[in-house]
Amino acid sequence: MGTGVERERLSLRGLVVCPGCRGVLEGDEPGAAQWVCGGCGRVVPVVGGVPRLAAEGYVASFGRQWNRYDVARPEEDEEVFRVKTGLDLGEVSGWLVLDAGCGGGRYARLMGAAGARVVGVDLSSAVEKAAWVCRGLPNVRIVQGDLLDLAVADGVFDLVVSIGVLHHSSDPRRGFREIARKVKRGGRLVVWLYRRNTLPQEVINWGLRAVTTRLPGGVLEGLSVGLGVLGGVPVVNRVLNKVVNFSNHRDWELRVCDNYDWYAPRYQSHHTVEEVRGWFEEEGFGEVEELGPLRRGRVYEWAYRHNLIVGSGVNLVGRRV
Ligand SMILES: C[S@@+](CC[C@H](N)C(=O)[O-])C[C@H]1O[C@@H](n2cnc3c(N)ncnc32)[C@H](O)[C@@H]1O
Repeated sequence: MGTGVERERLSLRGLVVCPGCRGVLEGDEPGAAQWVCGGCGRVVPVVGGVPRLAAEGYVASFGRQWNRYDVARPEEDEEVFRVKTGLDLGEVSGWLVLDAGCGGGRYARLMGAAGARVVGVDLSSAVEKAAWVCRGLPNVRIVQGDLLDLAVADGVFDLVVSIGVLHHSSDPRRGFREIARKVKRGGRLVVWLYRRNTLPQEVINWGLRAVTTRLPGGVLEGLSVGLGVLGGVPVVNRVLNKVVNFSNHRDWELRVCDNYDWYAPRYQSHHTVEEVRGWFEEEGFGEVEELGPLRRGRVYEWAYRHNLIVGSGVNLVGRRV
């Protein structure tokens, strides 16, 4: 992390607000066990250095996932960040960034190490992993909160980035509206969501997930390991996964984690470029551009454009007018 960038502790006073009355929360000092709202007196507990604005709820599988698997891979994460945001890390130095759905904190850490001031929000207990991954970066602060009712100041962030998140919420459109409001005029919003595949692929996936999302966590972990083995078998791992999704990542732990990430979450919605472009326009964003895909190659890009790659994304960036 030795980039020579000077990092000060990012104060959350006035940036994270009372989830009840939107008043100013007092008490953001190192080691504080709680914050208190100056308006309505509501108490926000701070556990493990992380303010808890909301309880985990329907994203419990992500708490289990991110705290179990170690998937931060700085070099690969940097490349994924570049492709999925259209930004080089050097550009974000000094920016105020909201990582909306930070999971285990891999991108929050990268941006913080590059000198951005980052607020990472996630609803699940993955915030514990994120806080650990971002330890030593006082300019990165992690908060447990709900993007669907986000108690964070409006119109202040230079960049709001949400990678692989809103499709796991109970209301992606509402989540989009909430995070879009946090971007300042001239600032950017980057969103990556699952792409809608062809109807047969969608039906198969819906049927499989109707079963897997009801399995106990331990059984799902076993299934993810089994699919991880399949993902290491040459040829099979490039063909069969166009029908039944499983990861063919070269790294074993990432493969297993990706499989769990696909089959465990309660919500998983798939979207089209036109739909998400419409969201940007409805929320007052201009210069809306499509980004990605992550992989290159004629065959891959053809299949991607024809919505045949299960687990691929709809990835757009826009600027607030
Ligand atoms: C697939 S993970 C992506 C994490 C991170 N962006 C990354 O790419 O490593 C999705 C994350 O979205 C979070 N999430 C889903 N719904 C949320 C909500 N309503 N509010 C906050 N976080 C939410 C989950 O807890 C989970 O950690």
